[in-house]
Amino acid sequence: MSPRIKDILAMKADSQEITVQGWVRTKRDSKNVSFLEISDGSCLANLQAVVDQASVKTEETTWERLGTGASVTLTGLLIPSPGKNQAVELQVSILQVLGAAPQDSYPLQKKRHSFEFLREIAHLRPRTNTFAAVARVRNAMSYAIHRFFQERHFFYVHTPIITPGDAEGAGQMFQVTTLPLEQVPLKNGEVDYREDFFGKKAFLAVSGQLEAEIYALAMGRVYTFGPTFRAENSNTSRHLAEFWMIEPEVAFCDIGGNMDLAEDFLKYVFSYVLENCGEDMEFFDRWIEPGIIDTLKTVIDTPFQRITYTEAIEKLTGSGQSFDFPVSWGCDLQSEHEKYLTEAVYNGPVIVTDYPKEIKAFYMKLNKDRRTVRAMDVLVPRLGEIIGGSERESDYEILKTRITELGLKEEDYWWYLELRKFGTAPHAGFGVGFERLIQYVTGMQNIRDVIPFPRTVKNAEF
Ligand code: 4AD
Ligand code: MG
Repeated sequence: MSPRIKDILAMKADSQEITVQGWVRTKRDSKNVSFLEISDGSCLANLQAVVDQASVKTEETTWERLGTGASVTLTGLLIPSPGKNQAVELQVSILQVLGAAPQDSYPLQKKRHSFEFLREIAHLRPRTNTFAAVARVRNAMSYAIHRFFQERHFFYVHTPIITPGDAEGAGQMFQVTTLPLEQVPLKNGEVDYREDFFGKKAFLAVSGQLEAEIYALAMGRVYTFGPTFRAENSNTSRHLAEFWMIEPEVAFCDIGGNMDLAEDFLKYVFSYVLENCGEDMEFFDRWIEPGIIDTLKTVIDTPFQRITYTEAIEKLTGSGQSFDFPVSWGCDLQSEHEKYLTEAVYNGPVIVTDYPKEIKAFYMKLNKDRRTVRAMDVLVPRLGEIIGGSERESDYEILKTRITELGLKEEDYWWYLELRKFGTAPHAGFGVGFERLIQYVTGMQNIRDVIPFPRTVKNAEF
């Protein structure tokens, strides 16, 4: 394999011979010389290749096949560049076009394309600066996330993608079935799920939390990092039907420890990206979200605000601001409220705790007031919620009551209840929406542009 451009650009140019493979970004011709900008995706910067048309060894058809988008193999000497835009350049002696990209039909020409247009060509968009930068940052963040947890002796557990239950109780699940939809087997007028693949109803998981709790109550500290699915009919810039979630779960941990972990986690990932993705972050700072690097630095250096839901409601009602969704104690916080708190009031991340039990999931620990639960949402400017979590109800009787109160079936949660019957322990955890985290770090406005192949309502082309 030939060296990657990222490594080549860091080499000392000593007229050494190298071979490089990549795609032509641009081609500029002067009288006898062609200048090629070559990208291989390894980094944002291109390698400049200078081709002397008279002396280069190549095939006859090369010149008609060489253009933006073509894949090439180039061999030549790496020399210090006389130009001021790059330190080194390749003086090409052998040029081979592997795959041409006809200029009249190749969609990625020089001009800047809209993200909407690029979404329609998801098979080509990683060849643009923005989408390759997003992919590199996404990769670095995945690595940082594993590192953060591994360094702290958390175990990575793989929770199932097909599950029989609705972990969040929000009823937004995709059903998984092998029953013929045109002719479902009926029993007394109802679908007979005994005939289905699993002998009962099954769905794609909305979360791995409940299964992560099983492992946390055996191994102490665990995390999941995998795809989750929500059949939410929300056509927004922050919702996907298939997204990746990171879910740590910690035994012998309360809501305070949970908040500390979430804050440490975010700061670690931001620092990692700033240290390791400098070039890509400068690109985002320049073209996508001016000031993002300074914002992340400030966030790393500043303790997160921590307020209760009740305090949040007071801030919102006392603001004199008029919202589309009116605010009163008991209402769920809408994205406009989360934006107001993080942008207008605190100008940074805010952790909101102790929400009314009615608007949160059944598994959250009930507070002494019996009206609120130990929920915790981390809100950030621009996006609102990026983390949702809680201390879990660890009391068998209270949990059983909550399950019944919410109209859930006790028999569906027998194993979850048994965790509280046998060696129960206080425990807590949270879920980070990976794409929202990437949006926050890169400044990308639409969640569809930070996942390679977005799945949203009425959209699953690739
Ligand atoms: O707040 P949520 O629903 O929490 C849970 O699923 C818990 N089981 C997590 C836990 O305690 N282990 O989702 C967690 C996060 C949200 O804060 C948000 O960032 C993201 O997942 N998220 C979505 N991201 C993209 N598209 C969607 N449709 C999302 N729904 C939630
Ligand atoms: Mg939530």
